[in-house]
Amino acid sequence: MVEPTPPSQHLPRHVAVIMDGNGRWARERGEDRIFGHASGVESVRSAVSAAGELGVGYLTLYAFSTENWSRPQEEINALMELLVKSLAGEVAELIRKGVRLRSTGDISALPDACIAGLRDVEQKTAHCEGLNLILALSYSGRWELTEAVRRIVRSGMELEGFVGAKGGQSAVPAAPAAPPGPGAPPTPPAPPAPPAPPAPPAPPVAPPAPAAP
Ligand code: FPP
Repeated sequence: MVEPTPPSQHLPRHVAVIMDGNGRWARERGEDRIFGHASGVESVRSAVSAAGELGVGYLTLYAFSTENWSRPQEEINALMELLVKSLAGEVAELIRKGVRLRSTGDISALPDACIAGLRDVEQKTAHCEGLNLILALSYSGRWELTEAVRRIVRSGMELEGFVGAKGGQSAVPAAPAAPPGPGAPPTPPAPPAPPAPPAPPAPPVAPPAPAAP
């Protein structure tokens, strides 16, 4: 008989969940949206436990997008309050389970109490070596892209075709040469491009590093 393969061999290292449907879930039960969000926190708890027990390395929860800022202020306030309460209420359990909390997104856009709560739990769980739980808050594709470029420029990494920060000029590609005008002397062939620098080592399915405090 073939022994089943231990599940850990098939596990993804990183699972990402877009939190969605809290409002619809609540409406189907005749409840309001806030009730749906509060119940969503229960689901988060189950997901964190399961991911930790299975041995998943990273669980990213896309919890609040930049678009969500356009929701009614009352709902935003309730969500932020829920976040602060959940962080404070779960920290002991996170530590017990060895879960390290990290965050990504434009954290600076959050209310001060949320930032303080996040930083507190990030610090208290910094020694945990089990599941990495990443909360994406005030996230957007645009933010991730600009943040990635910012980090590349900050690191001084030179990219092929780009003048990096080390070049001391600009981090944008050099503009293509203007086509020669009529009667202009032929342009000499461009010198061969220098060999590309070795690619930096791939990060280990790394979550975006926590935003700077
Ligand atoms: C999506 O449901 C859910 C959200 C926009 C908010 C989720 C955030 C929390 C529950 C705050 C606490 C978070 C953590 C991680 C502790 P929806 O409102 O878009 O539902 P709908 O699609 O049915 O309208």
